Amino acid sequence: MEYHIKDINLAEKGRLRREWAFMSMPVLRYIKERFSKEKPLKGIRISACLHITTETAALASTLKAGGAGIVLCASNPLSTQDDVAASLVVDDEIPVFAIKGEDHATYYEHILSALKHKPHITMDDGADLVSSIHFIALGKWENLEKCIVDWGRSISEEERRELVSNIMGSTEETTTGVIRLKSMERDGVLQFPVIAVNNANTKHLFDNRYGTGQSTIDGILRATNRLLAGSKFVVCGYGWCGRGVANRARGMGAHVIVCEVNPLRALEAVMDGFEVMPISKAAAIGDIFCTVTGDINVIRKEHFLKMKDGAILANSGHFDVEIDIKGLREIAVKNRKIREFVEEFELEDGRRLYLLGEGRLINLAAAEGHPSSVMDMSFANQALCAEYLVKNHKKLEKKVYDVPQEVDNEIASLKLKSMGVEIDTLTPEQERYLRSWEMGT
Ligand code: ADE
Repeated sequence: MEYHIKDINLAEKGRLRREWAFMSMPVLRYIKERFSKEKPLKGIRISACLHITTETAALASTLKAGGAGIVLCASNPLSTQDDVAASLVVDDEIPVFAIKGEDHATYYEHILSALKHKPHITMDDGADLVSSIHFIALGKWENLEKCIVDWGRSISEEERRELVSNIMGSTEETTTGVIRLKSMERDGVLQFPVIAVNNANTKHLFDNRYGTGQSTIDGILRATNRLLAGSKFVVCGYGWCGRGVANRARGMGAHVIVCEVNPLRALEAVMDGFEVMPISKAAAIGDIFCTVTGDINVIRKEHFLKMKDGAILANSGHFDVEIDIKGLREIAVKNRKIREFVEEFELEDGRRLYLLGEGRLINLAAAEGHPSSVMDMSFANQALCAEYLVKNHKKLEKKVYDVPQEVDNEIASLKLKSMGVEIDTLTPEQERYLRSWEMGT
C-alpha cells in the first residue's frame, strides 16, 4: 500500500485520540454500524481531500466499513494531524497522503495521489480535488501545478475522459468550495453532480456557527495565550462562521466589532448587539482581528498601517488569502517567529503586528479544528450523501444539489436521540390545521 505521511510511529497516539473523538460522534457510530451490515458502498472507490483529523478518521473508517475503498489527502497544508494519518495507515489500512506543514508542491502531489485512485466519488473541503479533475479533463494546464500537468499530459485523452466519466458524483464540505462549484455550474463546465454538504441545516447551522466559533477562539488562544476579556476583537464577515466567532469572543468578555459588506448581515450584527463599522475604522481600534469572509485581501496594507502596536491577525476562512500577507511583508522592516504559529512583523516606526498560523485557518493550524460532536453531524451528512450518490447518481444532472431534506432531518433526529432530548409531535388536529387554509379563523 502506498502512502506518504510524517511518521508511522505516531500511530499509537493517533489511535487513542481517535478513540476519544469517536466517543462524541454517536450519529456517525450509528451509521458505521449500519454500513458494516448493509455495505452500501461495496466496490466504490472514494478519494477524499479533507482536513486529516480524528473526526475525518471516523468518517473514513465509516466509509470503509460500508465497503468503500478510500484514499485520503489533505485539504490544507497545515491542518493535518500526523498521528491520525499514521493511525489510519496502520490501523485501518487506509492510504493517506498528508503531512502537516507540507509545501505547495507536496500538497499537489498528494492531491495527484488521490486522483490516481480513479474515484467513483470524490469528497472535497474547498473543491481542490474537483477543480483539479476539471482542469485535467479540460486541458487547462495553466491552472495546474507541475506534477499534475506532467501526469495529465502523460496519460491518454481517453484516460483523461475516463477520470471524469468514472465519477458518479462528489460532495463538498465547505462554503468556499460550494461557491467555487456553483460558479463552475454557472459557466456550464461542471462534469458531474455535486452535493453541497455545507448547505444542509445540520451542517452549517452547527459546524460553521458553533464549530468555527469555538475552534477559532481555541486556535487564537493556543497560539497566543492572550486574555480575551476586555480586548477589542474585530470579526470580518458575519456569515454563519462570523456569527459563531463573534458570539464566542463576546462570551469570553471581548468587545466585539463586526465588519461586513452585506447590508442585511450588517443590520443583523447591529441588532445582535455588536458594533459595526468598516475595516478602515476598525483597523485603528482592534487588538485582535479575525477574517471569516471567504474573499481575498480583506485586511490590506492601508489597514496594517493604521493598526496599534501588538495587534494580532488571524484568519479562519478556508484559504490563506483574506489577510494580504504579501502586503504585510512589503511594509515590514523586520520579521521573526516569536512563538509557534506567531510571526512578528515590525513596521518602519517600530510598531509590531502578529500574524497567526501563516494566515491559514487558525482553528486547524493552531488547534484541532471543530470539536467531534459537531463534526458528527457534518460527517454523517458526508457518509449519507455518499450512499445517496451510489443509489441515485443515474437520476442526477451535472449540477450542485442540496443535501436531500430527508437526510438532513434524519441526522437532526438521530443527534437529538443521542443527546436524550425528546420533542413534541403534532396532533392530527394540528396537522389538519396547518394543511388547511379554510380552518382556524
Ligand atoms: N473542519 C473544521 N474542523 C474540522 C475537523 N475537526 N475535522 C475535519 N474537518 C474540519
